[in-house]
Amino acid sequence: HPCCKIGPSILCADLSCLADECRKMIHSGADYLHLDVMDGHFVPNLTFGHPIVKCLRPKMPDIYFDMHMMVQNPEKWVESMADAGANQYTFHVEACEDIPALCRKIQESGMRVGVGLKPGTPVETILPYSDLFDVVLIMTVEPGFGGQSFMEDMMSKVQYLRTNFPYLDIEVDGGVGPNTIDVVAEAGANMIVSGTAITGASDPSQVIALLRNSVEN
Ligand code: DX5
Ligand code: ZN
Repeated sequence: HPCCKIGPSILCADLSCLADECRKMIHSGADYLHLDVMDGHFVPNLTFGHPIVKCLRPKMPDIYFDMHMMVQNPEKWVESMADAGANQYTFHVEACEDIPALCRKIQESGMRVGVGLKPGTPVETILPYSDLFDVVLIMTVEPGFGGQSFMEDMMSKVQYLRTNFPYLDIEVDGGVGPNTIDVVAEAGANMIVSGTAITGASDPSQVIALLRNSVEN
């Protein structure tokens, strides 16, 4: 199946030094950056939006920016995120009214298309549109906050998708770290998001290496 990538989430890093925190992740071996956008409506929390991403982009021109859009009306920010330099635009299916139209818009703006599923959303919701996505993001916590406990029962979604879509990028997000990576790898996810387990570690490179080792073997 597709190649394995580790994408740290900087949600719980020191956001007043965002570029430094991102560089630290890259130097620690991150393959991409998972950037959590929250609007206070789709989730009960706020983070940042495209103006911050636009400032970050010139400081690290070659890094893949994976935008996790935890927002209502996800169609609203497609052009601004593309213009800011985002590479992947992952919207939540629960917030989307017209899936084909949004996927087309994202693709036409030059970004890869991701669809996210909250823990309570069955995988069947997206099956009719499976051709339209580059990435499916399976949430293993309720979106909104870092540092929550991993929901192992979400692995049945990952297994189902991996069995039926061998070439699909399957991303897992929430509570993933050295203690939970093995079931994630076993289920067949290949894009691994990890926040506090990496950013809170004294040696992030060690944690990234450990996660990589688990998904690649
Ligand atoms: C949760 C975010 C996640 C999360 C990851 O709403 O989408 O990216 O912050 O952090 P950990 O790994 O600490 O759960
Ligand atoms: Zn996320």
